[in-house]
Amino acid sequence: MPRFPLASRAALCVMLTAGAAASVVALSREQTTAVVTLDQGWDASTQHRFYYESQGTRFIPAAMLEALQTPMGERFMSASNMRRFGFIVDDDRAVDAANPYGWPVGFAVDRDASTGIAMAGFTCAACHAAQLEYRGATFRVDGGQSGADINEFREAMAQALIATGKDAARRARFEKQAVALGFPGSRIAAALSSLAENARNGDRMSPEYVIPTTPTGPGRLDALNAIGSTVFGLNLGVPGNAKQGNAPVDFPYLWDIWRFDWVQYNASIRQPMDRNVGEALGVGVKTNFIGANGAANPEPLRWKSSVRIASLYWMEIALAKLRPPVWPRAFGSIDRAQAARGRVLFAANCSACHGIQVIAGTTPAEWHLPVVPLQKIGTDPNQAEDYARNTFDATKLGLGKAVHTAQGLSYVVTRVKEQAYRDAGIPKSQWAKYDGFGRSGNSFPAPCGYKARPLVGVWATGPFLHNGSVPTIYDLLSETRPARFWFGSREFDPTKLGFVAESGPGNMLFDASVPGNNNSGHWFTNDLARRGRIGRALTDSEKYAIIEYLKSATLADYPVRTVGRPGLMPCENDPNWAMASVVPPN
Ligand code: HEC
Ligand code: HEC
Repeated sequence: MPRFPLASRAALCVMLTAGAAASVVALSREQTTAVVTLDQGWDASTQHRFYYESQGTRFIPAAMLEALQTPMGERFMSASNMRRFGFIVDDDRAVDAANPYGWPVGFAVDRDASTGIAMAGFTCAACHAAQLEYRGATFRVDGGQSGADINEFREAMAQALIATGKDAARRARFEKQAVALGFPGSRIAAALSSLAENARNGDRMSPEYVIPTTPTGPGRLDALNAIGSTVFGLNLGVPGNAKQGNAPVDFPYLWDIWRFDWVQYNASIRQPMDRNVGEALGVGVKTNFIGANGAANPEPLRWKSSVRIASLYWMEIALAKLRPPVWPRAFGSIDRAQAARGRVLFAANCSACHGIQVIAGTTPAEWHLPVVPLQKIGTDPNQAEDYARNTFDATKLGLGKAVHTAQGLSYVVTRVKEQAYRDAGIPKSQWAKYDGFGRSGNSFPAPCGYKARPLVGVWATGPFLHNGSVPTIYDLLSETRPARFWFGSREFDPTKLGFVAESGPGNMLFDASVPGNNNSGHWFTNDLARRGRIGRALTDSEKYAIIEYLKSATLADYPVRTVGRPGLMPCENDPNWAMASVVPPN
């Protein structure tokens, strides 16, 4: 059972008053080799904005984070310390208004209108931007899978706060620096005490508010469990609602997602804005569900939040312009004859699930992603099972003692979103556009399966499967897979497609025997009895031909067919699975 830091965190917010301004300080930066940005259709200003624009999430006052030192006395946010956690450090960019402290990609500064205090939070790019290394060169993949170890970062930040609070000299240095950076001098001592106390009590600050029973490591989080636990545990003030985190998943890659009829690995969310608001809630948007006495606030106050709805909309529009990365020459030239052979093999063995399926009559084209039942695909079931089976006590919201994740989230997310539209002055006539390209039929199902997505650009996104349990595409297509391997290295493997499995700072040993880490399923084997078999065994030569095709595949050269509007998803109306598909109460 986690200790519950809500009351003290709320107290901190009340303590802070208006008037502080973050000043820009000169920073010494490290020199790094030039980064090659693969052309994905974004200009430099779109990229920069995507990296640093706030979505309204906040975990610590920005001046305090900048003033923080490691227990060794180093600047906590320094480039070298941040690289240890796998963040991307943009040394070559000027410190500017969007990124006043020169922090890594994905750290955003968000000014709290009621207190005037600039807060630090994560934005999309912390998890959805990647860097690949190859023989000393560095390649940026926007929307790719970040290697950041968010939980390790949170743990280190908590330890640094605790150490700072304990030692008088460190404390004095920290307070002086935070005040010089604009934090109100009259509040700093209490603010530090409060944060250090919370950290001692187990608050690792968002994300993710779950009890992590399976270690996450670089590039993974138990995102959906975290959203449920944060919303119904932390924000609603019901500690018993925090779930076990036994389903860590890879950060998925974001090109083409705006076309998908369903997102999340288990195809559990349909509408772009619902997904973004849900994510923002999971990552630490400030909410007002309950008041100081722990009871639900009256409406509309209950649904007011710090979510930046116009920024979320901008991010969605930017993502719609993001193209899959194209294989760079530096990774070696493509064998065109092999790729052509691979294309034929792909059409025969893969495209039934991974081909593009355009839903007839949709403009812009909406892609249907087939959802393959757990029974058939045979990969680790925890992500889909937790989502469908977890229930939360939401009596404070009048929803009863056992509301399912999908039901509860659809209720809360819809209300927070609509309140955000109202508070941002967005007229109702515009809501459908903001929701996502006018897409109607908002729903939050909980199917018993995983979606199969088109695989253009997948070469840049290892490790593979939703839980990152398979290091390379070669391994994914083979009849045996490594049960243990190091992950977290960004050194690219252009032969098997993935990252080099090597130990190193910040890397972690993946152990497929740990719950949530199962690496089976999606098998190509002639063993007809094997659970999760989806095709015949492939020879090595066939595997490498498919790999050659995946390296070279572009949207222009990818199997496409037109399909009707899809019907029910696996288990959608099966009460024995967990619950029926949910339409939000209105
Ligand atoms: C702290 C890390 C983190 C942040 C920040 C974050 N995401 Fe994600 N995102 C994830 C994870 C993990 C998943 C997979 C969850 C699952 O399906 O279980 C995900 C899933 C998604 C998906 C679904 C993709 C698919 O293939 O189904 C989209 C789209 C997405 N995120 C967009 C965004 C956008 C846009 C933002 C910012 C507004 C954002 N994310 C912020 C970690 C993050
Ligand atoms: C029966 C449908 C089906 C067939 C056929 C199929 N796949 Fe998949 N594939 C899936 C599903 C479902 C997933 C997601 C499973 C998960 O993450 O647990 C997936 C995941 C993947 C992934 C991982 C994507 C990621 O984001 O990590 C790759 C790569 C992949 N498949 C390649 C292939 C190739 C290559 C073939 C053909 C040789 C193939 N698949 C055939 C259904 C299929």
